[in-house]
Amino acid sequence: MRLPAFGHPFENAEALIYTLSKSMKTLIPKPKIERRVKAIARKISKDYKGKDLVLIGILKGAFVFLSDLIRNVTIPVEIDFIQVASYGASTASSGVIKIKKDIDLPVVNKHILIVEDIIDYGYTLDYLLRFLKHKKPRSVKICALLDKPSRRKVKVPIAYKGFTVPDRFIVGYGLDYNEKYRNLPYIGYLQK
Ligand code: IMP
Ligand code: MG
Repeated sequence: MRLPAFGHPFENAEALIYTLSKSMKTLIPKPKIERRVKAIARKISKDYKGKDLVLIGILKGAFVFLSDLIRNVTIPVEIDFIQVASYGASTASSGVIKIKKDIDLPVVNKHILIVEDIIDYGYTLDYLLRFLKHKKPRSVKICALLDKPSRRKVKVPIAYKGFTVPDRFIVGYGLDYNEKYRNLPYIGYLQK
């Protein structure tokens, strides 16, 4: 069992147990995420002022980021969600992607900002960009909390980016490993 390398506030006992049992390393502590999310929200509020903006969160991973983000956005926005199924191993997506849950809101002539937790190979967002463009929005851009460029297979344009992360399996702040760890208030990685 490995203790965390440096101190971070354990928000609850569960987080502590997860951390200790899985050799969790903190990558981005909570205050740093908060500062970055606020800065991105400020930028979005400025860039989309006076425009019809729909934020589309990709389920499930992006829900924590999206919920913090929208509470720092100061312009009127609409919120929707989309869910995709990607086939492959649980720690990587394949190129085969299907829509599990489509958006409900009409987006014709509106500006779409896709909110994603992490971009790895790029398959998911490459597919979603094309899928959402078919709905005839005025624009479609990407806001990704994390960018893991080391394994990128398809180039995707990122308009708003939180952090670039190394080639590790990242969990916490919405990101999961086998559906666990989404509730961690910080971003970490599991020691291989
Ligand atoms: P890709 O860009 O098509 O490879 O897929 C991105 C999706 O894979 C994200 O939405 C995540 O669900 C998942 N993913 C990729 N890397 C990680 C990671 O390090 N931790 C957790 N999920 C990941
Ligand atoms: Mg995801």
